[in-house]
Amino acid sequence: MILGSTEIVVEIKGVRRCFREGDRARKVLENLDLQVAKGECLALIGRSGSGKSTLLNLISGIDRPTAGEVHINGVNLTALSETELTLFRRRHIGFIYQFFNLIPTLNIEENLLLPLELNQYPVREAGLRVASLLEEIALADRCTAFPDQLSGGEQQRVAIARALAHDPLLVLADEPTGNLDDNTGCSVLNLMQGLLLNAGKTLIVVTHSKQVSRFADRVLTLVDGRLEQLVYTRDE
Ligand SMILES: Nc1ncnc2c1ncn2[C@@H]1O[C@H](COP(=O)(O)OP(=O)(O)O)[C@@H](O)[C@H]1O
Ligand SMILES: [Mg+2]
Repeated sequence: MILGSTEIVVEIKGVRRCFREGDRARKVLENLDLQVAKGECLALIGRSGSGKSTLLNLISGIDRPTAGEVHINGVNLTALSETELTLFRRRHIGFIYQFFNLIPTLNIEENLLLPLELNQYPVREAGLRVASLLEEIALADRCTAFPDQLSGGEQQRVAIARALAHDPLLVLADEPTGNLDDNTGCSVLNLMQGLLLNAGKTLIVVTHSKQVSRFADRVLTLVDGRLEQLVYTRDE
């Protein structure tokens, strides 16, 4: 049961986001509303420049709306200070990027430990958690390798594990297969589905991949600053 569930993780009310261009304001998002239920997988599509990354940045609290409110698990992000936002994001959000964004000077194991250290996990517990994640992404034998020694698909597997490591409320993925060939992209999506959705995580994924609509509960299109075209892809 997805829609109609009482547990709403993401609630966006009347959000507008404008960017200044000289002395003009360029509206990217306008009067946008969205609710995402706990455990739901929402796919977002839309042409390049339609505001998909802007929307994810508002949901993760990296950016703030020009007007309107963003609530995550009942917390009004728009009311938080910068420090509170950083702490909130660190604790509750996992992010998967198109270009992986692993830390190049840390090896794979250290990259996975980082979100746990930032959240003050006890050392032993963090070590066990990382070991189990490395098994799940089938990269335990590469744990001392650095990101640039891994293929794109392998780096994205690490990034998926990193997004999940600190047990976040919500995982956001911005074109996670955009930099991978079709086959690798497909296996990355399968891993994302297996690891995130089976763990009951709420997932919002921006993607052009047709595969994702097979496991997404809803696919929404961003058009003219708003979300449209509710398409149900799976019987509930
Ligand atoms: N920080 C910014 N300053 C000015 N314009 C921005 C900024 N971020 C995004 N934009 C503009 O907002 C629009 C939407 O961008 P984006 O959200 O990255 O689109 P998408 O991810 O759908 O390709 C684009 O026209 C982009 O140029
Ligand atoms: Mg984008």
